[in-house]
Amino acid sequence: MNIRTTKNWELPESAVTAESIYRLRNRRDFLKAAGVATAGLLMPRALFGATGGFPAKENPLYPASALKPTPYELVTSYNNFYEFGLDKDDPKQNAKNWKTEPWTVELAGLINNSGKFDVNDLIAKMGGIEGRVYRHRCVEAWSMVVPWDGFALAKLVTLADPKAEAKFVKFTSFNDPKNVPGQRQPNLDWPYVEGLRLDEAMNELAFIATGIYGKALPNQNGAPLRLVTPWKYGFKGIKSIVKIEFTAKQPANTWNVMAANEYGFYANVNPKVDHPRWSQASERIIGGGFAGKKATLMFNGYEKEVAGLYQGMNLSRYY
Ligand code: MTE
Repeated sequence: MNIRTTKNWELPESAVTAESIYRLRNRRDFLKAAGVATAGLLMPRALFGATGGFPAKENPLYPASALKPTPYELVTSYNNFYEFGLDKDDPKQNAKNWKTEPWTVELAGLINNSGKFDVNDLIAKMGGIEGRVYRHRCVEAWSMVVPWDGFALAKLVTLADPKAEAKFVKFTSFNDPKNVPGQRQPNLDWPYVEGLRLDEAMNELAFIATGIYGKALPNQNGAPLRLVTPWKYGFKGIKSIVKIEFTAKQPANTWNVMAANEYGFYANVNPKVDHPRWSQASERIIGGGFAGKKATLMFNGYEKEVAGLYQGMNLSRYY
């Protein structure tokens, strides 16, 4: 995140395009737009195949009408994914041919239902997917609005069936240095790991994304599944998860290991707790042009949903 200091957010005007794609949520519109009269045959599997469950129905609690989604082109070309490079446009280029199918996720640790699950079987077990439009705020002080598809993390916790001793959830990303250039560099400790308290994982907002804009997640956004915790800084949103483990002790998280005084375990968005090297009081809106700045919201605007999780905690200490 801050290994480099180049101004990655300075995007050319040409990168900012209309949000027309998102308006095509509805399947018939998709077909019309693609010039296809009959379903199935010519369509990519990720859109209409037996797997993935697309298109998802929008969850009315988190609709696109409440927040203006950032254009698809920007969400998929301005990324942090250090396994594929340090610059914002590296992941799109370098992850292009990386293979994410088939993909297995392991549930492990202090649970009654451990095992390995094919990602598509897991989605089916979750009862399919839904769409949620969330704010997305990086610790680097930029923000987007992303229409995710996926399922509530709470459903997966229920499937895992934690034992009483389980207090935390640890997430581990893949380790594939042979095929992934960034993992041959010692920029971070590989594989990327993250964690949540179990009650945070059970919060209604915590989400496992399998898509954006009604399509399977592009590799650069963390295919085939990644964590989304919209009240926290984006580095909590671990991409391309291979293992979810339930633990009694607080697990390590990669950026905290990298620089503990700069990146905490909690990483809750908080305009009053600055990063040691920059203010968190405001944020740049990606695609917002030169005027695209706004005040940072407590818990990124999700105070109602999550403030109860941190009652009585000193949020400057537990940053
Ligand atoms: N997950 C992995 N495995 N590797 C990473 O480098 N970067 C994190 C997070 N998840 C990262 C990761 C950071 S710093 C952010 S801000 C978000 O992913 C960015 O998600 P986006 O590219 O979809 O916007």
